[in-house]
Order: sequence, then C-alpha cells, then structure tokens
Amino acid sequence: MILNNKGIGILGTGKYVPEKVLTNHDLEKMVDTNDEWIRTRTGISERRILEDDKATSFMATEAARKAIEDSGLSPEDIDLIIVSTVTPDMAFPSTACLVQDNLGCTNAAAFDLEAACSGFLYGLSMAYGQIFAGLVKNVLLIGAEALTRITDWTDRNTCVLFGDGAGAAVLGEVPEGKGILALNLGADGRGGKYLTQPAGGSLMPATKESVENRMHYIRMEGNEVFKFAVRTMADASMNVLEKANMEISDVDFLVPHQANIRIINSSRKKLKLPKDKVVVNLNKYGNMSSASIPVALDEAVKEGRIDNNDNVILVGFGGGLTWGSCLLKWHK
Ligand code: UT7
Repeated sequence: MILNNKGIGILGTGKYVPEKVLTNHDLEKMVDTNDEWIRTRTGISERRILEDDKATSFMATEAARKAIEDSGLSPEDIDLIIVSTVTPDMAFPSTACLVQDNLGCTNAAAFDLEAACSGFLYGLSMAYGQIFAGLVKNVLLIGAEALTRITDWTDRNTCVLFGDGAGAAVLGEVPEGKGILALNLGADGRGGKYLTQPAGGSLMPATKESVENRMHYIRMEGNEVFKFAVRTMADASMNVLEKANMEISDVDFLVPHQANIRIINSSRKKLKLPKDKVVVNLNKYGNMSSASIPVALDEAVKEGRIDNNDNVILVGFGGGLTWGSCLLKWHK
C-alpha cells in the first residue's frame, strides 16, 4: 500500500527477555551438535528460556509496560491491543485479553494476530489502518513468543534456533511526514508446509498418538525457508523504498527478522547496505519469531543507534509463508 503523509508512528518501545540463558555449549549436552556449527551456520551463541511457571502473556505484559511508559501514555490511553504470537497462553481467551487485564488497559479492545515471524509487521499494518481510519487513537502492538515450549529438544535441526522473548510498541499520531511512510505485506500459502506445528489445532487435536509422535513441536524444512527468506527480504525492503520514492542510500538502519546471520548477510549484500546499518542481536537471543524485530528495534533505539529522522526499514519473513516490511522515519 502507498501511504499519504498522515503522521502515524511509534511513540514508545519496550522489550522483555527471560533471565535464563541456554548456551550452545549447553545444547552440546542435549543433542548431537556443537558450538562451532551453530555459530557459523546460524550466528546464534545463546538464547533465553522462559521460566516453567510463566507463559507468553507474562513476557508480553512486561514488554508492553515498558513501551507504554516510554510513550508517556497511561494504560487507559490505549484503545487497542494486538498481540502477535504463535504461542498464546491458550487457544482462548486471547493473550491480548490477558495482557489487557494485567496492565489495566480498561478502554482497549484486544485480539491476537498470527502471521508467524512476520506478525509484528502485519500488526503494524493493522494498527496503522485502525488509526488512519480514525477508529482508534493509540494502539499497543506486541510480538511475544515462548517458542521453546513448542521446540523439539531431540531435533538438532530446529532446537538450536529458537528462543523466548517479547517486544512491544505503542503507535499513535506523530507529526506529518514522520512515522510510517510505507508498508508491504505478502503471503504464499503454497509454502505453508515448510514450517508447521502439525498438531493441536482442529485438524489434529491432541491425542496420545499426536504427543507420542511429537506432532506438537515445530517442524521445519530449513533449506526451503532459507531460500524463501533470501528471495523475500531484499525484495520487500526495496518495495517500501520505491513506494516512498527513496533509494537504498537513504536508509539509515535495517532491522531484519533475526533468524539466521547468513540470511541477514545475503539480504544486506543484495541491498548493498554497509554492515553498520544493519541491526543484529540474534547471537544473544536466537530466533524469537514475531518478537525478534521489536526487540531488535527497542535495543537499537535505547542504545542510541536509531535517532530522530533516521529512515528505518523493518523487514521479516516467516511461516505461512508470509513476509512484511515497513519504512519508518523515526520520530519519538
Ligand atoms: O523464522 C523463520 C523460521 N526459520 C528460519 O528462518 C530458518 C531458515 N533456515 C536456516 O536457517 C537453515 O536452513 C538451518 C540453520 C536450519 C540449517 O542450515 P543449513 O546450512 O541449511 O544446513 P542443512 O539443513 O543443509 O544441514 C547441513 C548439515 C546436515 O548434515 P549432512 O546431512 O550434510 O550430514 C545436517 O544434518 O548439518 C547438519 N545439521 C547439524 N549439525 C550440527 C543440522 N543441524 C545441525 C546441528 N548441529 N544443530
């Protein structure tokens, strides 16, 4: 979609990652893998693991609390809460409703969104549309994932990749010409089979067999997802630049989905972007699905790397298959 200049942007950000760290060396004791393979093939050194007695809504709430505080608003000012997750606390009520209650956002409608790792970008687009239409003023958007709860710790192909965490943003009005300048979403359902959690839905409800056959865990054909990601990331980034009549030289920062350093590097090279313009934190957290982009964004802003008037591209891809990108002129 091509956007006019009505100023809608991010007013505040926040993140939460669990304290417990699982290193590559810890994983060496669990499956047939090694630190060197994981670091060179993925770029990941460690990931965070959510405490057993907590769930996604806890991380979402903590990240959201910080984002609301950062925005200068109060919980009552939030009109809509969107939680992007593939690991909700339960099928229903939605995790967004649990967060609404935790935070006391008594004036907010609330729903969950599922677009796998692209969920934060889908959420940005939904938030933009709601605010643009005048239906709401302030939206709390959260990407929160407890992926280690659906990780098969006997499958070395996947268990080294994922981690838990949450990132949040409050969206609302910013001056004209600032904030979200362009958005792009896409999906290719033909590739849905490459990244799945087969059981637990209406197709395959939980049974003794589904549990025994490990059907409730993430299954992935990594090579297929890898090829799709490399194809998509650069194209989706160029798409939003073209919509805003900008060029790659106008980009100050790229905040990509944090799945694999090789995917990030090949996208960066395709785009001819220097290394210091790309935000990378997957060495610390692994792939946190829809939490990856908002956590990376929050860190880059709080570290003072991203500053007012910087042109920032957020870009991601994931299960579905889905992808999304957003061009922001940063203003806070
Ligand atoms: O958020 C979106 C979701 N997912 C992704 O973005 C993931 C996209 N895909 C990837 O990041 C990569 O495809 C992986 C990291 C999953 C795999 O890397 P790869 O370079 O594509 O490895 P591969 O699957 O081609 O496997 C190469 C070898 C295999 O051994 P053989 O068959 O050549 O003997 C694997 O069995 O590496 C082996 N291998 C491992 N070795 C040590 C696979 N996983 C491991 C491991 N430790 N953890």
